[in-house]
Amino acid sequence: MDRYTGILTGAFTALSAFFLCSEYEKKHAVLRTYRVESEALPASFDGLKVLFLSDLHNNHLGRKNERLIRIIEDARPDILLFGGDMITAKAWSKRDFSGLEEILRAFAGRIPMYYGNGNHESRIRTERDSYPDWYPAFKRLLKTYGVRHLMNSTEKIVRGEDTIRISGIDFTAKCYLAGAKRPLEKGYIEKRLGPKDGDYHIVLAHSPLYLHEFSEWGADLVLCGHFHGGTIRLPGLGGVMTPQFQFFNKYCKGMYTEGPATQITSGGLGTHSINIRIMNRPEAVLIRLGRKESL
Ligand SMILES: [Fe+2]
Repeated sequence: MDRYTGILTGAFTALSAFFLCSEYEKKHAVLRTYRVESEALPASFDGLKVLFLSDLHNNHLGRKNERLIRIIEDARPDILLFGGDMITAKAWSKRDFSGLEEILRAFAGRIPMYYGNGNHESRIRTERDSYPDWYPAFKRLLKTYGVRHLMNSTEKIVRGEDTIRISGIDFTAKCYLAGAKRPLEKGYIEKRLGPKDGDYHIVLAHSPLYLHEFSEWGADLVLCGHFHGGTIRLPGLGGVMTPQFQFFNKYCKGMYTEGPATQITSGGLGTHSINIRIMNRPEAVLIRLGRKESL
């Protein structure tokens, strides 16, 4: 083998390994767990197990998503939250909600489910010419399986004398443009969710870029996705690239705090457009809430 052939063979082998690893990762999810403690959490909710899913993008992890469903079953959650982009709406995509439906079908009537929109759900809501009938069909799907759809709205969860609240907020298309973070207009969160009251409050907020704003508003727990963990993750450097073409953004995946607010960004469960995951397994996120006693 001459030198030129050797280089070509090496490059081909490396590329093949890269794509094979990615294809394996994309179909094999993990469960990532967090514990979040707060003095604001009422005693009745101490130990609540929240299972959070985002950015499935109509992926199928095993036949009819059986591998993902098994992970959720084994985690034995009390509630199931969806952080958006469980579907894909791109110019080239067909209307196909089957990946989401497989999950909803598995847990309907067994676990309370709440759904907040991502940019793909917002897109089919606002771009009706490009996506005719998609949003009504999506709403019907959620209704069929008893999912509470939080579209700039809030619901109470009551246990005994205690209450917590959960909201879903939509961002405008501007917030999802490529490049640097676009600021939210003044009062954006309060206009959509109202003023924060005294209850412990979880917000489904697809974009992970607005922790500061949610902390100022008074959120206790902000659940995000959208960044797909940064596509490729490098040791010590984190996620390489987000779907908004930001590089090495610190909010790609993990837990962050600011003031009393905690944000958890899921690395998501799927891909679109750039269909690669390296050192970045799809993840279901289990959050165990704990009551922190005040000193
Ligand atoms: Fe997204």
